[in-house]
Amino acid sequence: MEIKCQSEVGPIHPGLEGVIVGDTELTSVDGTRGELLLRGYPIAQLAGHHRFAAVAHLLWTNTLPTASQHEVLERRLGEARAQMFADLPPLEHADGMDALRAGLCRLTAVNGGGDPVAVCGAVATIVAAWVRGRSGARPLAPNPALDHASDFLRMATGHVDHDRAAALDAYLVTVIDHGMNASTFTARVVASTGADLVSAVVAAVGALKGPLHGGAPGPVLDMLDAIKTRQRVRPWIEQELAAGRRIMGMGHRVYRVRDPRAAVLEQQLARLAQFEQLRGRIDLARAVEQQAQAILQERYPNRSIRANVEFYTALVLEAAGLPRAAFSPTFAVGRVAGWCAHVDEQRRTGRLIRPRARYTGRVFASAS
Ligand code: COA
Repeated sequence: MEIKCQSEVGPIHPGLEGVIVGDTELTSVDGTRGELLLRGYPIAQLAGHHRFAAVAHLLWTNTLPTASQHEVLERRLGEARAQMFADLPPLEHADGMDALRAGLCRLTAVNGGGDPVAVCGAVATIVAAWVRGRSGARPLAPNPALDHASDFLRMATGHVDHDRAAALDAYLVTVIDHGMNASTFTARVVASTGADLVSAVVAAVGALKGPLHGGAPGPVLDMLDAIKTRQRVRPWIEQELAAGRRIMGMGHRVYRVRDPRAAVLEQQLARLAQFEQLRGRIDLARAVEQQAQAILQERYPNRSIRANVEFYTALVLEAAGLPRAAFSPTFAVGRVAGWCAHVDEQRRTGRLIRPRARYTGRVFASAS
């Protein structure tokens, strides 16, 4: 006989929305005020002012580095990039996230895989080698004398200049950590079992691969390609909304005001607007943001649907010379430092993450 299961679990929170799963001292995200703090510092005080290595140091140790500590960390990151290069497997994967996962599996605790610096260096080298490889070029060896962002850009695209490297560096800082997002939570779940750092990071890479986690930058560029000219901005947006489609790069589940990361990246774009060939694209993007914001405001007067981080991510990464297929892997080049910090913080709690589910399947009564 089939009987209804009596469940004693409490209220269900689909997607864990609104659920506080623990404490963190790393990042504070205030969606109402539009504030993102890393170890207490507003993101605008870090991105564009402190390099990726310095902000990784801040996350890992709770202090910004002194000049000599920064120098040492840059050197160690350079050595880690070089070490991964020496052990690089063939990366003939169509997808950059698959290549990253395969490359990271070469790291073990024995060859430095338990060390956040080794893991961060490895991610940059693997992603850059994959970017080169997909255009048929041979991977470029790291130059440990360069800072992390500059060397990543050089290895990935074959060239680097100060402004593009600085914009990319600010991007890596902007995305370095963002509360309990899906990939970070994944890393923490794996870490809570006592598994090693590489296993936690590989799992996080798997979570980041899904299009619902950071998948909008490519479609933002598709939108700009489709609009083409400033005159077409308003009719194009109205046509999309009339067809029931969303405007990519606009709106956010947490931020009810403009995403503070969008403002930081927009400033970096202003620096790149000096390049003649980028100016038209940047002007078009600004017009799209303004018009989309105004039209969405008319449509949803009680909501604030403003530009999110992905709107300007698309433009910064394109201006840096990276192909669209490399956007999610490049996000991992920044976010990996945050994953490492969360793994460390999770380990300190010593608590296994083990929620429950309500059973809704059938139950057969026992014969007796
Ligand atoms: N374009 C058009 N309409 C939008 C919109 C957008 N970018 N974002 C939200 N809306 C509308 C929805 O259509 C919905 O309207 P309805 O009530 O008539 O159905 C209303 O606003 C609320 O949408 P909802 O999905 O509940 O809001 P949310 O704040 O939870 O959504 C996103 C957050 C990110 C899912 C949403 O803004 C979105 O899909 N943005 C586009 C994709 C994107 O840029 N993603 C990257 C996020 S970092």
